[in-house]
Amino acid sequence: MKVLVIGSGGREHALCWALSKSPMINELICAPGNGGIEEVATCISLNGEDVSAVVQYCQENSIDFVVVGPEAPLVIGLVDALKTAGIPAFGPTAAAAQLEGSKAFMKDLCRKYQIPTAAYERFTDSASAKAYLQNQKIPIVIKADGLAAGKGVIIAESLAEAEKAVDDMFGGLFGSSGAEIVIEEFMEGEEASFFVLTDGKSVLPLATAQDHKRVGDGDTGPNTGGMGAYSPAPVMTEEMINQTLERIIKPTVAALEAENATYTGVLYAGLMITSEGPKLIEYNVRFGDPECQVLMARLTSDLLPALMATADGTLDKVSLDWAEDVAMVVVMAANGYPGSYEKNTEIKGLTKANAHDDVIVLHAGTKKEGDKLLATGGRVLGVTARGKTVTETAEKAYAAIREIDWPDGFCRKDIGWRAIKREK
Ligand code: AMP
Ligand code: GLY
Repeated sequence: MKVLVIGSGGREHALCWALSKSPMINELICAPGNGGIEEVATCISLNGEDVSAVVQYCQENSIDFVVVGPEAPLVIGLVDALKTAGIPAFGPTAAAAQLEGSKAFMKDLCRKYQIPTAAYERFTDSASAKAYLQNQKIPIVIKADGLAAGKGVIIAESLAEAEKAVDDMFGGLFGSSGAEIVIEEFMEGEEASFFVLTDGKSVLPLATAQDHKRVGDGDTGPNTGGMGAYSPAPVMTEEMINQTLERIIKPTVAALEAENATYTGVLYAGLMITSEGPKLIEYNVRFGDPECQVLMARLTSDLLPALMATADGTLDKVSLDWAEDVAMVVVMAANGYPGSYEKNTEIKGLTKANAHDDVIVLHAGTKKEGDKLLATGGRVLGVTARGKTVTETAEKAYAAIREIDWPDGFCRKDIGWRAIKREK
């Protein structure tokens, strides 16, 4: 088979790495890919958000199956266009991708179908938003409705901060994504991510993970796309997994079908484990990045048949095997990230890092230039390790990181701290 993966991040390197082990694939192509992906797939210069160009490429090159990595092409209807052209593709339609594309859509769906999530209201003007704030508990959470690359959420610790967030969003801080906002109750608890595949009827749980979103050690500083993750998440006990499936995931899949927006693809629930059980923070319509890296590191089955069954409605016939091991990814980012940073700095030492047992360095933002490897993004590498415990796995990941010679980059030194504390 000829399989095309859309995307260029660490998530797509992880997906290509997993797919490259599938005996069913004889040609793996990635658009546009990166400096690491080109070691396992043929990278082509094609923008996933140029829907008609992707469809044309697939037709001209007899692509058998397309796997869409990021949310942006899903939200604008890439999978709809591929399906119309008769090309099987993994990922939700634009209607179903609203689950991530519009926080207001997601919250209204939860309200209508009684799916546990934070209490909220929607606003399109600053005066009514501020009036509402006067009677709310602090801290309070202000969110831009649309996609904002994970940055459209402000947790206000005072009324003044909340009012400023409202003004900033309506003032265009997140562009048109902030034309509508959602104000919601702050939930206390520990966060976890839960991933399932669904073909719109059956649900196949994948695995749990915990992500570190803040840039600094001790979970301090601004939010990022994710500085590291590990799987499984100890807070997701069997009981919590069952509650999440029965109260959140399955009702959502049924609700979307009832709303004529049947969901197919991977559904990523960001959860708060509260004293009342799991509550939904948000849905994403794609694999997490960097959570995908740790899921793929633990998956021992062929990924491709599961993705194909998700797309063609036969997921009830599929099961997947996972290593009992822990997996951890530590992200290396360019100095300055998530603010501005320099590009095209040279990275050395990856061969030595990759030679460590149970370690693979997945690339998020790199390109090859001759025999040099250059950093091209904010998040640049994801050093991924497998081990028996979180403590041991962290030691393996950080030992490999010490081989990497990249003065222009940094990583958090404490990925997994919660779980490591639990192990002690
Ligand atoms: P989101 O982009 O919706 O996942 O939000 C980003 C981060 O903000 C989440 O990972 C949480 O840490 C935090 N957050 C969002 N909504 C809430 C909430 N209602 N209560 C507490 N924390 C939240
Ligand atoms: N790591 C968080 C996300 O992919 O949204």
